[in-house]
This record gives sequence, structure tokens and C-alpha cells, in this order.
Amino acid sequence: MSQHLTIVDHPLVQHKLTLMREKGTHTAVFRQLLHEITQLLAYEITREMPMTTTIIQTPMEEMEAPTLAGRKLALVSILRAGNGMLDGVLDLIPLARVGFVGLYRDEKTLKPVQYYFKVPDSLGERLVIVVDPMLATGNSSVAAIDLLKGAGATNIRFLCLLAAPEGVARMKEAHPDVPIVTAALDRGLNEKGYIMPGLGDAGDRMFGTK
Ligand code: URA
Repeated sequence: MSQHLTIVDHPLVQHKLTLMREKGTHTAVFRQLLHEITQLLAYEITREMPMTTTIIQTPMEEMEAPTLAGRKLALVSILRAGNGMLDGVLDLIPLARVGFVGLYRDEKTLKPVQYYFKVPDSLGERLVIVVDPMLATGNSSVAAIDLLKGAGATNIRFLCLLAAPEGVARMKEAHPDVPIVTAALDRGLNEKGYIMPGLGDAGDRMFGTK
């Protein structure tokens, strides 16, 4: 993808996002909307996937037809909120391989520390799509992408629902080669690192925790 940041302003995405932002929207509906928006965002982020052709036989004649090229895509969820976006992408790309990155914030250093890392093999030969609904400070996404690059990934894209300018800037500085696709770029972060106006804690809202 040529652009560093793509905001998907499709009316269906924007309408569903408004419903998700509303504080009265309940867990099950929130999860369903995230699933539906992710399908639409996944359509955008896969737009420039490499293609090749294959010879097929239609009922009428033989033709050279377009088909996806290369190894199966790797879809990587940043735990836990990223899991809410997995199925939306898998609806479109059911054969994608799936990985997980778990990070927590060290209370003393405030740096992200890895507690779980399990990703598909041959990452360097795959398009890697990292999913996490909220790009806030960018600390966890930068750390996750550091780990993925350390594991061999070279072609990475980042898919989120909402982004803050601070997180986008941090990603651009650390990983300028990683295009970001999002449904909206919000005003900024509050003092606790939450996106404003945002939608609150995405993990809590999708899993019904507090
Ligand atoms: N993570 C969230 O779930 N929400 C925010 O606003 C920021 C980070």
C-alpha cells in the first residue's frame, strides 16, 4: 500500500462505528458491529495483495483467470482486544494462518513486556496483517511489530478500528514501512492514554469486563 494511513470513510463503516461509540451499546451488539466493520476494513487492507493468473476451464472455454499469489496470509492478533477482529478478517480469508502476541505493561518501566508469542511459520514469505482495535499510544503495536520483524516478517500491515494521532505518529517513526488502515482518526489521548472521543476500553466493551 502506498499511503501510511488510510481512513475508510465508507458510510456503512462510519454508521456502524457511531453505534459502537455510543455508551449504551451492549456487549453482544458491540461485538457484532466490530465483526461487521472488520470485514469492511479487511476488504480495504487486502486491496493491493499480489496477484497471479491460473488457467481454468469455465463451462464455455479455457481462460487465464486472476488468483491470489504467494503464501497464505498471516493474521496476528494483539491480545486481548485484537481477538474481536479475527473472525471478521477470517470471513474473507478463511485460509489465513493466525498468530497471537500478548503484551503487558511493566508498572516500573512502563514498557510493554511479552508474555505470549505464537505465530505462523515462514513469516518472511507472507503478508502479515496485525489487528488491534485501538491504536492509542502505539506502544503495544510498535512492540508487537518489533517482535514480528524479529521473527522474520517483512511485509506487515496494521488494521485498527480507531487511531489517535499520537499512535499514528509513533508508528510512523518506528515502522514507516507498515501501512495503517482505520475507520477513524480521533482527536487525541486523555491523561490515561484513552482515545478521545473514542469508545472506551474496547476489550471491556467486547468481553463485558470492567
Ligand atoms: N485501549 C482501549 O481499549 N481504548 C482506548 O481508548 C485506548 C486503548
